[in-house]
Amino acid sequence: MRASKPGFAVYVHWPFCLSKCPYCDFNSHVREAVDQDRWRAGLLREIDHYAALTPGRAVTSVFFGGGTPSLMAPETTAAVIERIGERWGFADNPEITLEANPTSVEAGRFTAYEKAGVNRVSLGVQALNDADLKALGRGHSVTQALDAVALARDTFPRYSFDLIYARPGQTVALWEAELARGLAMAGDHLSLYQLTIEEGTAFHAAFRDGRLVLPDEDTSAELYELTQVMTGAAGMPAYEISNHAAPGGESRHNMTYWRYGEYAGIGPGAHGRLHLGAVTATAQRRKPETWLDLVEAQGHGTELMNPVPPAESAEEMVMMGLRTAEGVDLARLAAISGGALEVVVDRERLADLLDQGMLIRTSETLKATPQAWPVLNEVIRRLLG
Ligand SMILES: C[S@@+](CC[C@H](N)C(=O)[O-])C[C@H]1O[C@@H](n2cnc3c(N)ncnc32)[C@H](O)[C@@H]1O
Ligand code: SF4
Repeated sequence: MRASKPGFAVYVHWPFCLSKCPYCDFNSHVREAVDQDRWRAGLLREIDHYAALTPGRAVTSVFFGGGTPSLMAPETTAAVIERIGERWGFADNPEITLEANPTSVEAGRFTAYEKAGVNRVSLGVQALNDADLKALGRGHSVTQALDAVALARDTFPRYSFDLIYARPGQTVALWEAELARGLAMAGDHLSLYQLTIEEGTAFHAAFRDGRLVLPDEDTSAELYELTQVMTGAAGMPAYEISNHAAPGGESRHNMTYWRYGEYAGIGPGAHGRLHLGAVTATAQRRKPETWLDLVEAQGHGTELMNPVPPAESAEEMVMMGLRTAEGVDLARLAAISGGALEVVVDRERLADLLDQGMLIRTSETLKATPQAWPVLNEVIRRLLG
């Protein structure tokens, strides 16, 4: 994987879920009925709009995220993929991922997604313990999750699944057993997220009131350490803070974000970064109904389309790149910011972090060290001020 080839990615947001998980602050909504025909037409129109703004790109990846894209009618998925191919065109061997919730997985649907062109699924397994699945508000059991993973393995060339750790009551020994089980059923990719308490969620209220207690800092640090050791030993080291892959199994789509490549965001609340002369940030209206009304009225639901000043895009690129094992490509950073690393960051701050072993610099890259990863937000704050 070369940092000099970030690709052109298309993110498509499906904002609906069967129920709202108490930890989740994604743009996801529960609705009794969804008019699939209207939604299909809306997504296709917004693709037309963004493709007209960005001619000449070949799409290297598509990611259907949510919400729960496995609630999307497979005909909609097929129509979206077809339209992306017609308007932009695909590069060789594009990666086309669909996020799926084990609750909404069945063989017929998976086969239909595969026929539509999806070649990778990412399953929200979250836990391999029924009591914890219940506490996380999940609608599926461990058995259903295992069946969904087996079906993914049988249907698609590639699959990944998500687990959330550092959950209330989780000990190091419990996570060790659970992660060993997860690794045994993994394909080429695993996402392992530490539970974060997001403002506005039910977990946030419970945490504030003391009804939800997280593992203490030392235990969390041990859980993180154990995760690195076990995934490394299994040949699936972290290539990004929360993402692990066998060599070549990295999510090309996410690498486009982390390399600060170009991506279009389609659907409610989707974000994009387009290179239209200047790097341009785009964001679509979040509320599903408002987005759809706008698309029907004017062809797109864009809320924001702002050029990002070079200094800011350079900071964004540093923040993204330090999350990855490959680090920030300094030649691309110079091309985007119009200056070398020292122009983007304060010399003294950089020198301090290099001295403290938090960052490593070569002629080509700037990387965060393994020591820095558990405290990366703080390191980035100290670097960028
Ligand atoms: C959009 S969801 C995945 C797809 C699908 N909606 C599902 O839940 O199965 C993306 C992933 O983010 C992770 N996630 C969401 N909120 C989180 C939180 N507060 N802390 C840690 N991980 C979180 C979960 O692992 C989840 O699978
Ligand atoms: S975690 Fe997934 S299923 Fe749960 S509310 Fe968020 S997007 Fe929906």
